[in-house]
Amino acid sequence: MIRPFSFSDLDSLLQIEGQSFPKSPYDWTTFLNLHDLYPKTFLVYVDTNQNQTKEALWGYIIFTLDGHIISIAVHPQHRREGIGTRLLQRATKTPYLQKVWAEVRRSNQGAQAFYSQMGFQMTGWVKNYYGNEDALIFQWSPDPQEF
Ligand SMILES: CC(C)(COP(=O)(O)OP(=O)(O)OC[C@H]1O[C@@H](n2cnc3c(N)ncnc32)[C@H](O)[C@@H]1OP(=O)(O)O)[C@@H](O)C(=O)NCCC(=O)NCCS
Repeated sequence: MIRPFSFSDLDSLLQIEGQSFPKSPYDWTTFLNLHDLYPKTFLVYVDTNQNQTKEALWGYIIFTLDGHIISIAVHPQHRREGIGTRLLQRATKTPYLQKVWAEVRRSNQGAQAFYSQMGFQMTGWVKNYYGNEDALIFQWSPDPQEF
């Protein structure tokens, strides 16, 4: 299930963050600030047990109202299960968005493959965006017939 982030998610989310972005993880203040800014588009993917009494958080996405993916990550043990796709579709299926885009480290070939198979195209790059590493810009636009 995908639902909005709540404060009780923070510990699990920080663990995924540390494992997903070891070079530059966001800290808890950054996540709280992002939640202040984007409460409706800061979403988490959770699994519930059979009695629906306990939740496990396996992924999250944060995007701006104009389609900028600020961050997306899935727990390493639950990758390649379609969770990232479901989270990213929340952005690409937002009505009336003209485009959705994300920065990706040049070395992050997994994320590049992920965005490509979602129909994103590499439209440019920003030198040393991550200090000593370039960002590639991956962008998606809806089919004009959908408007
Ligand atoms: C990128 C990320 C969010 C993808 O999440 P995910 O849940 O594993 O993605 P999905 O299972 O929906 O993948 C869908 C498809 O994308 C492609 N894909 C995803 N990860 C891939 C990888 N590491 N290598 C090659 N292709 C990949 C595959 O085509 C995959 O379909 P398949 O599993 O049937 O072959 C996840 O790998 C992650 O958290 N990475 C670390 C954080 C990160 O890099 N975030 C993006 C920063 S811009």
